[in-house]
Order: sequence, then C-alpha cells, then structure tokens
Amino acid sequence: MVKICCIGAGYVGGPTMAVIALKCPKIEVAVVDISVSRIAAWNGDQLPIYEPGLEDVVKQCRRRNLFFSTDIEKHVAEADIVFVSVNTPTKTQGLGAGKAADLTYWESAARMIADVSKSNKIVVEKSTVPVKTAEAIEKILTHNSREIKYQILSNPEFLAEGTAIQDLFNPDRVLIGGRETPEGQKAIQALKDVYAHWVPEDRIITTNLWSAELSKLAANAFLAQRISSVNAMSALCEATGADVTQVSHAIGKDTRIGPRFLNSSVGFGGSCFQKDILNLVYICECNGLTEVANYWKQVIKVNDYQKNRFVNRIVSSMFNTVSGKKIAILGFAFKKDTGDTRETPAIDVCKGLLGDKAKLSIYDPQVTEDQIQRDLSMKKFDWDHPIHLQPMSPPASKQVNVVWDAYQAAKDAHGVCILTEWDEFKTLDYQKIFDNMRKPAYIFDGRNILDVAKLREIGFIVYSIGKPLDPWHKDTLAVA
Ligand code: UDX
Ligand code: UDX
Repeated sequence: MVKICCIGAGYVGGPTMAVIALKCPKIEVAVVDISVSRIAAWNGDQLPIYEPGLEDVVKQCRRRNLFFSTDIEKHVAEADIVFVSVNTPTKTQGLGAGKAADLTYWESAARMIADVSKSNKIVVEKSTVPVKTAEAIEKILTHNSREIKYQILSNPEFLAEGTAIQDLFNPDRVLIGGRETPEGQKAIQALKDVYAHWVPEDRIITTNLWSAELSKLAANAFLAQRISSVNAMSALCEATGADVTQVSHAIGKDTRIGPRFLNSSVGFGGSCFQKDILNLVYICECNGLTEVANYWKQVIKVNDYQKNRFVNRIVSSMFNTVSGKKIAILGFAFKKDTGDTRETPAIDVCKGLLGDKAKLSIYDPQVTEDQIQRDLSMKKFDWDHPIHLQPMSPPASKQVNVVWDAYQAAKDAHGVCILTEWDEFKTLDYQKIFDNMRKPAYIFDGRNILDVAKLREIGFIVYSIGKPLDPWHKDTLAVA
C-alpha cells in the first residue's frame, strides 16, 4: 500500500489530499500541519475552509484512508510520497523584499524530511515556488541524506477556490515535472499512477522540473493579465460611453480569445496572482531581463490602479468627501463561494475609504468579523504566514462595523458598494434598501452584477465598472 503524506493542511493541501483519498481507496493519505486548531477543525464538524462539495468528500474518507494529524514526523517518516504545501510568503525584508518568495517554511520542511526519513522518498512541490526551488531542496535533502535517496517532483496546483472540488475531479491538466534521469522518470511514473486513478492519461502532462515550476507562475500571470487587460478597457469604456460587458462579449466570441476570465471587476485578489507575478518579476530581474520584468509588473500596476479608481470614484461623487458618511460594503471575500480574504480587493478599497474617514458597515456571508478586523489592520504580505504567526486580532476599529445582514449594512448609509459577486446580492430588495438610505443614494457595483437601469429607475445614482456613466459621475469625472 502506497502511503502519502502532505505537509500543510490549507486551501491547497486539504482539498487536494481529500480528493486523492476519495479516488484512491487503497492509498493511505495523511495531511499534517503545525497548526493544532486547523487539524482539530479538519477532524471536527466545521471544516477550516469553506469550499462547495468538500465536506462530502472529507466525510466519505476521513478515518478510512484520510487522516489529519499534527504528528508531522511520524507521518513523514512512514510516507513514500511527501507533498509539501506550506506557505511561501513574499519577503518583507532583506534581499528581494516586496517581490521574492520567502522559502523559510519550505526549507524547514525539507530539513525535517531529511531528519526523520528512514526510507527513500519522492518529495513533491505543491506550493507555488520560484523556478529552481527544486534544486535548493534537492541540495538540502542530499546533503543530509544518510544514504536515503530522494526524488523531487514539481506538481503545481491549478485549482481555483470556490470550484476546487470540481477542478480536482475534472482537471484541465495535471502537470508533473521531474529530473530527466531514469530515477526521475520512475518517480514521475509513480505520481502519474496516483492521478491515473481518475484523470485520463492524455491530461497528465510531464515535463522537466523547471518547466513545471515556471508553468505555474506563467499560468497565473496570463490569467491575471487577462483581468488587467479587461480592467484597463473598463476605464476607457467609462471615458468613451462604451460598455465593457458588451466589449467582453464581443471579443470573447473570437474563439482565439475565448469567453472566460473577461469579467471586469474592482480588481483581482486571492493568494496567488499578485504573489506569483511578483515572483516572476523577481526572477526576470535576477536574470537581467528588465523589459520582461517591467511588462509583468504592469499587470499589478493596472490592478492597483483599478482599486484606486474605484475609491476615487466613490469619494469624488460624494462631493469629494466621505468623512463621517456611512458606506455599506457588501462582500469582502476575494470572490464568491469562498470565505477567503487573502489579497481581496476589498481590503484596499476599505482602507482607501477609511483613509478618507468614512464609516464602514461590512457584510459578507462567509467572512467573520475577526477576520475582517485583522485584514484591515494587517500589513501587506503578513497574511501569508501560518495562522499562529500572524498578528493578533486588533481591538475592533470604531470606523468599521461588521453586520450579518445586507439590509442592516445599508440602513442610513449614503452609499452601497458591491465588492464580491455573491449571488444573493443580485436578488436583494433594492427598493427597500433605497427607502432606508440617506439621499442622494449611491450604488457602486464593483462586480457588474446589478441591473443598472432598474436601480436608476428606483432613484439610485449608479456606478458600475466600465458601464456608461450617470450624468452625475460625468460631472465629477475631472476629480476621479
Ligand atoms: C499554500 C501557500 O500559502 C501558497 O503560498 C502556496 O502557493 C501553496 O500552498 P494554501 O494551501 O492556500 O497555499 O495556504 P494555507 O491555507 O496558508 O496553508 C498552508 C498550511 O501550511 C497552513 O495550514 C500552515 O499552518 C501549514 N504550515 C506552514 C505547516 O504545516 N508547516 C510550516 O512550517 C508552515
Ligand atoms: C487562481 C487560478 O485560477 C488557479 O488556477 C490557481 O491555482 C490559483 O489562482 P483563485 O485565486 O482561486 O485561482 O481564483 P480565480 O477564480 O482565478 O480568481 C482570482 C481573482 O480574479 C478573483 O479576485 C476574481 O474575482 C478575479 N476575476 C476572475 C476577475 O476579476 N474577473 C474574471 O473574469 C475572473
């Protein structure tokens, strides 16, 4: 019986291992983590992450061939294949600060594997790592090996949150990179055999190590670039009277472009896009490729521009000040169907409004008050450390009120901002919301999910990203 161990029971490690356990009943899968509370949650009724379909998968195999444990060393020692899915935060100090990945957790995982191993192992990079990390890991393992043989594979994860289980059940592709030696090829085959339990062979791509590592960064950079491209167009649409949803539809019909990932928004968020592009930029710079680095940097700059533009639009349309004004924030997660707030555009928008002294009333169906307060007080990049190393929860800010109902959030507010595209926001009773707001009543739709014409009929002043502007907003254009 093959034994798998995964270090890191997070958004990536947890769902991925649960699906492997479900699809491979003869493989024993142990997911280990240094966080006692996270492991307790995986073993309890309330899983630590919200992901549609996950609970069902976990319930089917937990304690059958899927185990969650804090006994890291025991499970690593017993495993044939060790996945590593620990945090790789952006460095905030020293060489490469603000760009390079901090591999502290990865390095200590590798040293621990070397310390406890008594048999040969395949070590799989699951976290996104800079290109050539495998070489560093190989050096740590072989220099501490005591006759044990290791093969390093890169097997990047392409699941998207909110659809993780579907993405794992039915992946576009599984990518496995390894050394081009007979031992390396044997290791690739061993991992291929795991996925072949449910993934058709032609969807399992094998490459050399560096191509696999770089493909992960490249895929995320291309996806993020698409969003920045459509968001750049949204600014031009507002300036010219074009409608970005019509433009997206029209260009998406070209099969070479395709219709997906063309939704203009207040900006992209999530744990991967910005971090991976910064990583890519750093690698380009280290290789003297300044022009290439600048090209990718621009994707992040446009994303920041989009978030700033949104805040400026709100402030300028409210007579250039939101000081003391109540603004309802509907949605805080970085996208719908997840409670994840890592790098969510809501953080920057809220901070921008708070900087102008607004009072915020925030509602998100999946994000807790504690999380929101922590996010709004945390420094950039601090989110990507194990939970117990993150800053303590701050005292609740008086300017921020977190509520459990959209109507309560909007009551007596001057403006409502939609920052996450939760389905429930599409069907709210906007007449009721309007009646209970201060006038003029504004709506700023950062996700283009609302019926603009209907809202205008009710009496709202509406701003929807990339859509033709209200005369009201045209008048304030100079400031925005
Ligand atoms: C993780 C990384 O955050 C991301 O940078 C990488 O690209 C993929 O792997 P994710 O699963 O979304 O992604 O992160 P997170 O939910 O934070 O999970 C990481 C887990 O590793 C945490 O539960 C943390 O406690 C655990 N961990 C971290 C360890 O068990 N040991 C460590 O030394 C460090
Ligand atoms: C992404 C990649 O899709 C996935 O393959 C990789 O493994 C991890 O990073 P994720 O961050 O979970 O997944 O979500 P994704 O659906 O890609 O969305 C990222 C951000 O882009 C979200 O904030 C989302 O709202 C935004 N987005 C997405 C848009 O603004 N417009 C779009 O058209 C699509």
